[in-house]
This record gives sequence, C-alpha cells and structure tokens, in this order.
Amino acid sequence: MTEPAVAVSDLRLELVSTGEDIVDEISFAIPPGEVLGLVGESGSGKTTVGLALLGHTRRGVRVARGSVAIAGRDVLSLPSDEVRAMRGGVVSYVPQDPSAALNPNLRVVRQLEEVLVAHRFGTSDEERHARIAEMLAEVALPSDGGFVRRYPHQLSGGQQQRVGLAMAFACRPRVIVLDEPTTGLDVTTQAHVLRTVRELCTAHGVAALYVSHDLAVVANLAHSVALMYAGRIVEIGPNRTFFAGSAHPYARGRGGGSRGALLPLGGRARGHTRRAGAGRRACAPQVRGDADRRARARCVLRRPEGAP
Ligand SMILES: Nc1ncnc2c1ncn2[C@@H]1O[C@H](COP(=O)(O)OP(=O)(O)O)[C@@H](O)[C@H]1O
Ligand SMILES: [Mg+2]
Repeated sequence: MTEPAVAVSDLRLELVSTGEDIVDEISFAIPPGEVLGLVGESGSGKTTVGLALLGHTRRGVRVARGSVAIAGRDVLSLPSDEVRAMRGGVVSYVPQDPSAALNPNLRVVRQLEEVLVAHRFGTSDEERHARIAEMLAEVALPSDGGFVRRYPHQLSGGQQQRVGLAMAFACRPRVIVLDEPTTGLDVTTQAHVLRTVRELCTAHGVAALYVSHDLAVVANLAHSVALMYAGRIVEIGPNRTFFAGSAHPYARGRGGGSRGALLPLGGRARGHTRRAGAGRRACAPQVRGDADRRARARCVLRRPEGAP
C-alpha cells in the first residue's frame, strides 16, 4: 500500500478552560494524489481538524492526544519554528474567504513571489518567475503583466480564489487543506475551482483534505468521504460506498442520492451529550487505495447518542 501523505491518529482537541472535547477519536489517512472530503454540519469540528493538519489550534484550544504525521513527522509535536517552516511549504491552506489569504497591499506577482521566497523555492529570480508563470497557468489565470500587476481588490472572487490556490500549490506541498473554498462563488467558477483542485492533486501527488458542508461538491470531487458529527468522525469510506450506503441520518437526509447540502438534525451538534466512546467506530477509518476499497465496503457507525 502507498504510504499515506498524511495520517491522523486518535486526535483529541479540547478547551483549555474546561477540558471539554472539541473533537475526539479522529483518525484517517490520505494517500498522495487523493482528496478526502470532510463533511458535517456547522460546528461539528471540521475546521478544527483541518487546522490541526497545519499544526495549528485556535486560541483556548489544545491538543490533548493524538498525532498528525506528515512526511514522517508529527506536526503536533514539532517545535513551533519547524511547524511554521512546514506551513505553506509541505502543508498549505486555502481558506473559505479568498481575500483572507491575500495581502490587499501586494500585487498578484508579489504575493506569489513572497510564498516562493519564504520557502526558499528556487535559487534565482528567473527560476521563481518561471514557477509563477507555471503556477498561474495551472490555475488557468493569465500571466501577462497587466494581470499579475493587479491588486487583490481588482480581481473577481473566483480569480482571488485561484490566486489562493496557486499560492497553496506553489511550493509543491504534500498536503493541502481547503476549508469551504468555493462558498460564495458562482456555480461555474466553483466547478472550475474544483476541477483545478482535483487535477493539481492528481498531477502532483498532493493529498487534499477538502472541508465542506455540501455533499454534492464532495460527491464530485473526493475519492473518500468522512462525515463528522459532534466532534467525531461517525462515518468514513470510499466515495462510492459512502454515497451508496450511508446509515447516518445526515447523509440519508441528503435528498436524492448524492445531491444537496447536509440537513441539520435540529439543534447544534455540539449541544448533544458525547460520552467517551459514544458513536465509536465499527472499523478503523483509514482511507486506502483502490485495491483495498472493495474489501472495506462500508464503515458505518452507530448513531451518536443524543442525536434526535
Ligand atoms: N477557540 C475556541 N474556543 C471555544 N470554542 C471553540 C473554539 N474553536 C472552536 N470552537 C467550537 O468547536 C466547535 C467546532 O468548531 P469548528 O471546528 O469551527 O466547526 P465547523 O468547521 O465544523 O463549523 C464549535 O462548536 C465551535 O464553537
Ligand atoms: Mg468551519
């Protein structure tokens, strides 16, 4: 079996103040070149897991247990300067709001140059400029002077997001985390961004964690899907088996097969009781390659206690 690009093992993040878990028992692995769609309603813990792949926790949250192995190193136990060096290089991030990834005061070309310089990509300006032209072509943006000299506010939302993608893929990362990156984009632009993500991941062997609340997007994009509920992964498996046989009420409520956004179950996910072991996995949620897919037909879990 191919060595996974990223392997998350028994991850638990909790509030520093109370010790209450935000996410717990999170385990999955993504092979190079594959996309894992992480779905679940708002507040279920998707962003918390995504940020953990970058070795980041939000204020007031700490890692209580588990590991995130990328390139053979646990990003959660590395010194902070080493984690910072990995971010944007070995593992990169595309946020929901494309403008959040961009510096409003820098022209497109400077933003891209900064990423390359920060991660010591290339040995000369010439090499870096060649890489910038290549990056722009990869995300289907023009690389003429008129375009690259624009500031972020002179770009459309779709163009901003594609610059964000170019920055995220710039240093040929092993892992990329995309957190609802097409929210707010029109359908055509969204489809283009998704196609670009998939093509770049396949072409360059990048493993992607694609966070979304939109099952239709994930059905079209992801090789495998993990469903979060109340801080746990309650279901995980290859795309086809996930959408063919989900037992979970979220996925069942998606209306007409693989189309439609997640339906809320009523009440916030985190409001429900979550005793240790509730909703425990029936099988280890490792995402594997094609050869293994048929064998692990379904990995369906008990419904979390407290769910209506
Ligand atoms: N720094 C924090 N302090 C307190 N609660 C937090 C913090 N970060 C996240 N949470 C809570 O953890 C839960 C999961 O958040 P999040 O990972 O952002 O969910 P999602 O991305 O699925 O919407 C939410 O209930 C959120 O309010
Ligand atoms: Mg989120």
